[in-house]
Amino acid sequence: MIKKQDELRETANRLAAKGKGLLAVDESTPTIGNRLAGINVENTEENRQAYRGMLFTAEGLGEYISGSILFEETLYQDHVDGESMVAKLDKLGIIPGIKVDKGLRPLAGAHKVETWCQGLEGLVERTGEYYERGARFAKWRAVLQITADGCPTNLAIKENAWGLARYAKICQESGLVPIIEPEILMDGDHTIERTAEVQERVLTEVYKACAENGVFLEGTLLKPSMTVSGADNTDKASPEEVANTTVRTMDRCVPAAVPGIMFLSGGLTEEDASVYLNTMNSIDRKGPWSVTFSYGRALQQSCLQAWKGNDLEAGQKALMARSQANSEASTGDYVAGSQPSSQDTLFEAGYKY
Ligand code: 13P
Repeated sequence: MIKKQDELRETANRLAAKGKGLLAVDESTPTIGNRLAGINVENTEENRQAYRGMLFTAEGLGEYISGSILFEETLYQDHVDGESMVAKLDKLGIIPGIKVDKGLRPLAGAHKVETWCQGLEGLVERTGEYYERGARFAKWRAVLQITADGCPTNLAIKENAWGLARYAKICQESGLVPIIEPEILMDGDHTIERTAEVQERVLTEVYKACAENGVFLEGTLLKPSMTVSGADNTDKASPEEVANTTVRTMDRCVPAAVPGIMFLSGGLTEEDASVYLNTMNSIDRKGPWSVTFSYGRALQQSCLQAWKGNDLEAGQKALMARSQANSEASTGDYVAGSQPSSQDTLFEAGYKY
């Protein structure tokens, strides 16, 4: 048990190392299909292999990226040159991780938009196999939504917090560091203060459930959404407001034993995701955790557009640019606009991963 805790602590610390963050490439097959459709590339296994193989052979990527979250297909996939994707990541000094949840289902008894996250059944066997294959951390995405008519309900908060804590405990039994992800969607026209109030309730419930389940916090990471106003609120909060409110929420709710808070981008543009992170790292906070990134869309959009299905060099260059930008943002050293970015809106109502 002690040996396992040491390993979990060490993996979590490596993932949250100064100046580094995570590259989330764990889109399910339908979701990566939508992203590929955006550049007119067909969603075949070969094309997914080519795209992700391009990401995982970008020289020097490990300087900015400590870990990458994979979808199951990629964990067991080889690069077109025959070497496994896991070996490619190892060569870059990037720790492979795995999405282990099985997606969202409607939560009976709650509001009609609310969900629970499935995947606990058989999880202990699956996580054992993922560890054997080389994964050292995992992700489970629970989703909550804010509405004008009562969401999130207490039922949804409790169910999702409990699921995250059960998942976290099971992963730790297999030696995987669990990323605890209670995402609060940007959907809606609520204010930033309303988001803060909801996020405080959610995070408090998540850590209560972790305590009840005996989760070893030093061997976990948190992946929250930033505390922002709803996407349809015309009064968009400024970077300073987002940074101050997010840091206040984290200071109030995240235990000091947690080594890193790895934010998701959740539909923010590439540049906003970097600027908000940079501003958070430019102000005082009480918490000792590192404040960094675990971006999917905000690390891949300009890369996908540059790659276009076959331009390896341009794709890798764009990926490196945003990875460097976010690495700098994680230490408060990013100069806005100093790296190229896509201006595309990445927000999509009811986004599925
Ligand atoms: P986005 O940065 O695209 O929100 O994705 C991160 C992620 O892994 C969500 O589960």
